[in-house]
Amino acid sequence: MKILVVGNGGREHALTWKLSTDSAAPEMFCAPGNAGTKQIATNLPIQADDIDGLVKWAKENQPDLTVVGPEVPLCLGLTDKLEALGQKVFGPSKAAAQMEGSKVFSKEIMEAAGIPTAASKSFTSPDEALKYAENAKIPCVVKAEGLAAGKGVIICETRAELLDAIKVTMLDKAFGDAGNRMLIEDFLKGEEASILALIDGENILMLASSQDHKRIFDDDKGPNTGGMGAYSPAPIVTDDLWPIIKKDVFQKTLDELKKRGITYKGVLYAGLMIEKKVPFVLEFNCRFGDPETQVVLPRIEGDLLPAFMACAEGNKLTDDILKWKDEHAVCVVMASGGYPGSYQKGKVIEGIEQAENEKSIVFQAGTKNINEQIVTNGGRVLVVSSLGKDLPDAIKNAYSSIKNINFDGAFYRKDIGAKGLKYTN
Ligand code: AMP
Ligand code: GLY
Repeated sequence: MKILVVGNGGREHALTWKLSTDSAAPEMFCAPGNAGTKQIATNLPIQADDIDGLVKWAKENQPDLTVVGPEVPLCLGLTDKLEALGQKVFGPSKAAAQMEGSKVFSKEIMEAAGIPTAASKSFTSPDEALKYAENAKIPCVVKAEGLAAGKGVIICETRAELLDAIKVTMLDKAFGDAGNRMLIEDFLKGEEASILALIDGENILMLASSQDHKRIFDDDKGPNTGGMGAYSPAPIVTDDLWPIIKKDVFQKTLDELKKRGITYKGVLYAGLMIEKKVPFVLEFNCRFGDPETQVVLPRIEGDLLPAFMACAEGNKLTDDILKWKDEHAVCVVMASGGYPGSYQKGKVIEGIEQAENEKSIVFQAGTKNINEQIVTNGGRVLVVSSLGKDLPDAIKNAYSSIKNINFDGAFYRKDIGAKGLKYTN
């Protein structure tokens, strides 16, 4: 059995690792992968957004399943093209991927389906947006319509910041064409959590909850990043919320998409803001979260592949297809000094092997091989993910492991998981 994983981040290393341990013993390929995936798969010299290159490889090599990690190839229609060849793909179609690709589309779905979310207004004209801003509620949030690689969302605490955010998005085009259209939405208070659900077109299987840490510095200070660490489960998602999230978020979304002739297959990520037991949707993503994947997958006991196949083949997911470990997980991202601003690449990384043990695994993200060495090749360089019998134990294991790893300028947050501790004390 051959499996192709598309992408090159920590998420894709985690997906490749989990699938490579499957009892079906698949042969793993990554396009393009990184220095971590190279140890367990064949890395292909094809970029994740090179749709023609990926389709050509798939035609020639006939993988039994293609798992698409990032949003860009999904929004470019990779699934549609591979399915047209009769191949199996884990990941939504181009039409369904609009749930992430277009913030205006996903807001429209949420509003039509009655899904709890922040009230918002969309603009294509900067003048209209600036005029609306004069009386808009403060604080509020400006969101570029299209894909902006995790940027494109600006929280505005004052009217001056709102005016500036509109200019940056629509006039300076800081996020490129993603800012041709934008939303101004109400600011929501509460605590965030991520819920990922596997969907086979009909059935919904929610995976373990998790919580990301988006800001660069401890205590959620500094600019937003792609995510500096995560923990799972997230205790803010209490047992009584699960049926509500399933019905009011995922089922309503599927039903509304279906009304518009769109079937969703793959994983749907709901970024939630939970306040007074109401799960408001901040955003949908059409893919696994990074770094949420690095804490959710290690908690799965046994095989993941049957669940991915059930989604790819359609209408075959069952509630008991996945088994969960009774353990908590914490992952800490090690980043290049300067990230999310500019940073240097090519720093030699030492200590990865020493960091790994029965409870801890290192997922590589921005790394590559030069000769025999692993060097930094991105902002988020690697992720140390650890299991533990409870949250404090998982935190302890992650931080004692990460101490072994070193590279010039390495930086990581010291408080990952701390927000969850208030529920355990
Ligand atoms: P998004 O990419 O839409 O998830 O936004 C990135 C981050 O901005 C989220 O994780 C939240 O921390 C924050 N955010 C987005 N929308 C809102 C909102 N309406 N109210 C408060 N915070 C928000
Ligand atoms: N961790 C946030 C995301 O994957 O979008």
